[in-house]
Amino acid sequence: MTKDLKHFLDIDLLAPETLRGILTRAATVKKDGAGTPLPLVGKTLAMLFEKPSTRTRVSFQVGMQQLGGSVVTLSPQDTQIGRGESIADTARVLSRYVDAIMIRTSAPEKLRDLVEYATVPVINGLTDESHPCQIMADILTFEEHKGSIKGAVVAWSGDGNNVATSWIHAAAQFEFELRLACPDTLQPSARAVAWARDKGAKISVGTDPLAAVNGADCVVTDTWVSMGDAAADKHNELGPFQVNEALMAKAKPDAVFMHCLPAHRGEEVTEAVIDGPQSVIWDEAGNRLHAQKGVLLWCLS
Ligand code: CP
Ligand code: NVA
Repeated sequence: MTKDLKHFLDIDLLAPETLRGILTRAATVKKDGAGTPLPLVGKTLAMLFEKPSTRTRVSFQVGMQQLGGSVVTLSPQDTQIGRGESIADTARVLSRYVDAIMIRTSAPEKLRDLVEYATVPVINGLTDESHPCQIMADILTFEEHKGSIKGAVVAWSGDGNNVATSWIHAAAQFEFELRLACPDTLQPSARAVAWARDKGAKISVGTDPLAAVNGADCVVTDTWVSMGDAAADKHNELGPFQVNEALMAKAKPDAVFMHCLPAHRGEEVTEAVIDGPQSVIWDEAGNRLHAQKGVLLWCLS
């Protein structure tokens, strides 16, 4: 791995001050614009998608363009990766053309290979293990609505998946309390929980959504079936973890509801909640653009 590159790989791998700096820059650029001259003129981001994406794809593309840069979007079928060229060789080649590489892939090993062999910064656009860019946007959104997240209570009800892992990392780095309620069979990453607790984070992991949500400032969930999920039918296990009006009523009256999207109304969340007055999902999705800009400016400066 080339040293001194500013990779954005996971929320547990960066200093809290760095994460806070990225969010501050994101908020500044959102409010005041990127300035002139545009900071990323002449820079190119390669985006490698091995899984579908709407928000991550468009927010990175538009974010680069609004900062003065450009993007190249790649998928396995239209590159030689689809014919077996390795990520390592692809990384070495792309590094000679572009200034940063964003990847969305199932396998965390592919992200690690990219980091090992690229000589430009690498950004994690989601793996089966984590989704750090999403949670940067989520923190930005929470703070716009509720003020500093430090000391706040965030409750997760649902699958202990990749998005949950990045929330766990964030709880330690941004110093908020995180209560997770997940089925016994779909518990969050024990490694992430141990890491966060070791950092002093206040994290509870259980199977009771009512207990998790009680008095929370923010209630979060995610799809029951993630992209490429081996178990396509987890509905019976996850049914009791649905975020509905009865569950939201246990949170603080002014609590916000968040979801990274895409959502499945009637499954992990009811229409009344996701389209109701406490839901901030459109601000959350919109803030992907601004959080992405903060990440890009940090990686490329
Ligand atoms: N939340 C999120 O990452 O959305 P996409 O899968 O559409 O990028
Ligand atoms: N957990 C979901 C998040 C999608 C943005 C998935 O991995 O499919």
